[in-house]
Amino acid sequence: MLVQITENFEAMSKLAAEIVAERVRRKPDCVVGFATGSTPLGLYKELIRLHRAEGLDFSKVTTFNLDEYVGLPPEHDQSYHYFMWENLFKHLNVDRRFVHIPMGMAKDIDAFCAWYEEKMVEAGGIDLQILGIGANGHIAFNEPGSSLGSRTRIKTLTGTTLEANARFFKTPAEVPKYAITMGVGTIMDAKELLLLASGVGKSDAIAATCEGPITAMWPATIVQMHRSATVVVDQAAASKLKMKY
Ligand code: PGA
Repeated sequence: MLVQITENFEAMSKLAAEIVAERVRRKPDCVVGFATGSTPLGLYKELIRLHRAEGLDFSKVTTFNLDEYVGLPPEHDQSYHYFMWENLFKHLNVDRRFVHIPMGMAKDIDAFCAWYEEKMVEAGGIDLQILGIGANGHIAFNEPGSSLGSRTRIKTLTGTTLEANARFFKTPAEVPKYAITMGVGTIMDAKELLLLASGVGKSDAIAATCEGPITAMWPATIVQMHRSATVVVDQAAASKLKMKY
């Protein structure tokens, strides 16, 4: 695991964008796994800048997103479909046919999850998976206790996640209770991982991920077992690391 500590959110985002851009230049038809949340927003802004300023080409890139809420249509402003198109895809020259985001409205969710896994295999596997991390060490919607071998599946969201999400919806009844998420095992199959974290709120999770024992109670700790993982954090997120990097 390569740990890179940057000064702040902007520097974290720039370094992450350099890594993604380098992989896309080296292999224009690469497969990139994308994440939602506040953490990758700076990275996405920088990728858009590189696309506009330097013509960074996404026309042959295949994408797979980590997760999506069950029951939200793609046009809902809290869906991860909406997030990805608004914050990244519509600003790049991605080919719609190569974009994959779990379908929250799928009628047969188990069949959809199996199909999603098959599509990743058909695409040749994910070359580079971008990851955020929860303060509790979750990756995607794999909350503490998730099997470290899990595959794409439906997960019940925890009470804390429901509470954290309530502010984005008009009524509590609208807050999604389930999500489709790649499993920890699915994420570990990516050829390369790029995990980002910013802010002191992530410092315990980053200390566990980089220096703690591997445990399903901090799902991100499994990243220690990956052959090619880079963790890019700002100083605040790195503040509880004991080793010198
Ligand atoms: P955040 O979420 O980027 O909004 O902090 C990350 C996550 O919960 O995985």
